[in-house]
Amino acid sequence: MNVQTNIALSDYTTMRLGGPARFFAEATTPDELAALYQNAKRLDQKVFIIGGGSNLIAHDEGFDGLVIHNKIKGFEIIANDDNATIVKLGAGEEWDSVVQRTVDMNLSGIAAMSAIPGTVGAAPVQNVGAYGQEIADVFISLEAYDTHNDAFVTLDWDSCHFSYRDSIFRSEAKGHYGITSVTIKLSKAAPAPPFYAALQKYLDLHNITDYTPQIIREAVTAIRASKLPDPKVLPNSGSFFKNAVVENWVYNDLKTTYPDMPAFQMDETHYKIPSGWLIEQADFKGQTLHGIKVHSDNALVLINESATGYQDLADARQEVISGVQDKFRITIEQEPLEIG
Ligand code: EPU
Repeated sequence: MNVQTNIALSDYTTMRLGGPARFFAEATTPDELAALYQNAKRLDQKVFIIGGGSNLIAHDEGFDGLVIHNKIKGFEIIANDDNATIVKLGAGEEWDSVVQRTVDMNLSGIAAMSAIPGTVGAAPVQNVGAYGQEIADVFISLEAYDTHNDAFVTLDWDSCHFSYRDSIFRSEAKGHYGITSVTIKLSKAAPAPPFYAALQKYLDLHNITDYTPQIIREAVTAIRASKLPDPKVLPNSGSFFKNAVVENWVYNDLKTTYPDMPAFQMDETHYKIPSGWLIEQADFKGQTLHGIKVHSDNALVLINESATGYQDLADARQEVISGVQDKFRITIEQEPLEIG
């Protein structure tokens, strides 16, 4: 294991911001990951584990500890019957190449999560989701290094406390586990409606009625390409804000003023209002604030056009949050995690 020093985090985060990691190492096996954690503990160093850096914001001062780049690979079929296939995935696998492989096997369950940047290990952390599917729907268990007890553990679905873009790994168990593998269960049944509205619209427009995992993958890839900028070309972290979850009375009140407001009922007492819509209505779409552009095709995405550092992003973020607050009395929250 080669531990490097002073590695720019801007090179490992798709928002392309952030100063150096004091120490930086790749882990290609669970044992390497464990050894890195143990070594850091002995030397009293903080540790942060990263995947593709596509949902991660780094600060200008960098990280005064060890950043572990998770490169643990693996794609292992551990069960297979007439209805389903269970696959164990290395946490360092590229998420989209895994989706491609499962679609090639004609398996359903994650095809609508095509073209999401990032790695397998990051998917359960924020309960990644798109176009009507989320990882929690197919999740069986994950394996992780437990940094408190210095042992490998298996966590089942219940232990992860998945909810909309959230899990224990972002909250009470932050820093507790280094995820090494994720096991998911995919179906052999063809994808079936009802589909997410934007997906159905695309299928209708192209007269598609024969639903296969490959068709869903192609449709979602095309839809995403039309509204989500490629982070390799325009630095960004996907949705920069979570959608707003509000109580029924807030939704009902707003709906009388804004009858065209899109919203989805989440449960009996809550609605989800798209933050992209709130930001657009607050007139930020297409605007550049402190070198950060609110994407013209999707106001939920912030693009780093020419920010000189983290503070520019923080200032732009605050302007957007305050603008939405002033207009709607709703406080939207950042989606990407922060390192440091
Ligand atoms: N909308 C606007 N203006 C905008 C953007 C969106 O009015 O600038 C409206 C749309 O017209 C639509 C509604 O908001 O009525 C919802 O938009 P969309 O279907 O594009 O989805 P979203 O709620 O903005 C979420 C996820 C995306 C995911 C899509 C599709 C979050 C924070 N984002 O976005 O996830 O791809 O649904 O399922 O939940 C990500 O997490 O990085 C991400 C891209």
